[in-house]
Amino acid sequence: MSQDPQHHWEDVYAHRDPAEVSWYQADPAPSLALITSAVNGDLAAPIIDVGGGASILSSRLAAAGHTDVTVLDVSRTALAASRAQDPTGTVQQVHHDLLTWKPQRRYRLWHDRAVFHFLTGPADRDAYRAVLDQALAPGGTVVLATFALDGPTHCSGLEVARYDAAGLAAELGDRYTLTAHGRHDHHTPWNTVQHFTWITATRT
Ligand SMILES: C[S@@+](CC[C@H](N)C(=O)[O-])C[C@H]1O[C@@H](n2cnc3c(N)ncnc32)[C@H](O)[C@@H]1O
Repeated sequence: MSQDPQHHWEDVYAHRDPAEVSWYQADPAPSLALITSAVNGDLAAPIIDVGGGASILSSRLAAAGHTDVTVLDVSRTALAASRAQDPTGTVQQVHHDLLTWKPQRRYRLWHDRAVFHFLTGPADRDAYRAVLDQALAPGGTVVLATFALDGPTHCSGLEVARYDAAGLAAELGDRYTLTAHGRHDHHTPWNTVQHFTWITATRT
């Protein structure tokens, strides 16, 4: 990403209603199903949604009884919108650039929908992997969703990298074992379709 991410994303959320961005999901059912399955019903499992933005996902997890949910984002505006949706008031928030974040604890579940694909340079992807390795507990699961090979080439004015499941697994490296993968057709608020690839992988 050429521009400072904080500046870029604050600008995006300052000028757009969170329900009118291309990645908006009224019901994050695919992520909820993958997360619920990965933590095997353990409501105390520490879960982090990185680049969660204004997504309803963290609030839905808390409302479903998950007691240790964190959302990290570089945009304060997005985090404020996320907090306003949380009926439990229990979702923890981290305002930081993910690539320079120093996690203070470990999580059982790392969820990333539509963040990793903005990392078009190898140095940024290395930085992401280093943070993931610090944050995810051994035996923990990463749920990663990006644009598919036939997905959009750009999002929010930024170029993206596109992946199939093998490509995403390769990005995670040898420390991670691919456990499931698939495709998802995301319908934008203006009803165009964006093809996503998702994977789940466990950390050894
Ligand atoms: C396309 S949106 C996806 C939001 C959310 N995951 C969802 O599915 O609705 C990308 C999000 O990643 C955040 N983001 C981008 N780069 C980031 C970085 N380096 N550190 C933290 N958050 C970042 C943006 O602020 C934005 O909320």
